[in-house]
Amino acid sequence: MFSSLKDVLRFKRFEISPAKRRLSKAANIGDLRIMAKKRLPGGVFDYIDGAAEDERTLRRNVSAFSDYGFKPRVLRDVSNIDSSVDILGTRAPIPLICSPTGFTRIAHPEGELAVSRSAARAEIPFCLSTMATRSIEEIEDTTLPEDTARDFAPRNWFQVYVWKDKGLLRDLLGRAKDANFETIVITVDTAVLGRRERDVRRGFTLPPQLGLSTIIDGIRNPGWTWNFVKNEPIRFANVVGKSTDDGSSAISLANHVNAQFDQSLSWRDIEWFREQWDQKIVLKGIQTVDDAKLSAQHSVDAIALSNHGGRQLDDAPSPINLVKPVSDVVGDDLEIYCDGGIRRGSDIVKAIAMGADACMIGRPFLYGLGTAGEEGIDWVLDFLKQGMHQTMALLGARSLADLSPGLIETRSKNLSDND
Ligand code: GLV
Repeated sequence: MFSSLKDVLRFKRFEISPAKRRLSKAANIGDLRIMAKKRLPGGVFDYIDGAAEDERTLRRNVSAFSDYGFKPRVLRDVSNIDSSVDILGTRAPIPLICSPTGFTRIAHPEGELAVSRSAARAEIPFCLSTMATRSIEEIEDTTLPEDTARDFAPRNWFQVYVWKDKGLLRDLLGRAKDANFETIVITVDTAVLGRRERDVRRGFTLPPQLGLSTIIDGIRNPGWTWNFVKNEPIRFANVVGKSTDDGSSAISLANHVNAQFDQSLSWRDIEWFREQWDQKIVLKGIQTVDDAKLSAQHSVDAIALSNHGGRQLDDAPSPINLVKPVSDVVGDDLEIYCDGGIRRGSDIVKAIAMGADACMIGRPFLYGLGTAGEEGIDWVLDFLKQGMHQTMALLGARSLADLSPGLIETRSKNLSDND
């Protein structure tokens, strides 16, 4: 009896690394989100996961992808799938960019360093936020992981908000240039901060304060609390010691943004950036065909169709719905990135087929980071790549050149809000 039992029983080898153990139980990014929710204090998870007002835009960013179906072609040799693409003149194995995310160290002490290393390993661009908790110089020094192919250099981009203090802005751009950042991404959807009601409810500050509710949360999330207490204080690493708040004392993000950012930002300022920065410029936060046309007229190199992950204007258009109309008008003039709601490789395939040059992700890698640190981000990037390859094989598409609007069917006709 024992020998027949032995034939059917198979025990998995016990995985010593808790991060690997967690990741081995995840099947998709939704699973990572649930794991991150269990591991992070409520306020931290809600800051990452939450969005503006009723969070309709957040939900629609994701659900809009299900309004598009596939029309697969069969009997095409798909034994070699190539998902590589040029992003602003340099080849990447998948059309993906890690979006800038603020205060990333609240998810894990390595913060942006972990994201930049993971992106470097995956050979895709990483964009550092002005509101980052690792500095431009730290990112420059440490992004080349030992196992990264020697012929590949990390691609660092720098995201800028338009501060009232133009001296600070000039200083940031100079530092980014000295540190070999190749591209700047100007976020244009944040004249004031959206009302993130989960943060309002919790009285959430950045960095999180250790008040009574955080202490209770801390007892429930001892791993996070221990890391928070033992590591160097979290602050806006790029503006330390400057005239503006550097985040070393707790602030409400809304008050900070509303006081420091320039609400008079206009297209003229984009010309100012052109004078300051002689390399590539991306505008992030374009949400209409008209503004996509204006972007082309202002000679920017790329636009990110983005509503800031639903964190700014609720009921803003879903980026995936904008891809085709924008691509039809300015697709030959600049690169188009679809930022928002990407949860699977098949979502990236849909965006590319409709005319995007690449996609951007934020929350997915933060869920990975919160769940399993840097390995969690590697997991997410690999999951998206594998998902793209599988979808392309099942669609009969060997390369991105084979992806065209003809492979997509629009299931919902109710998309006119984005015209
Ligand atoms: C910062 O950019 C945020 O969306 O919280």
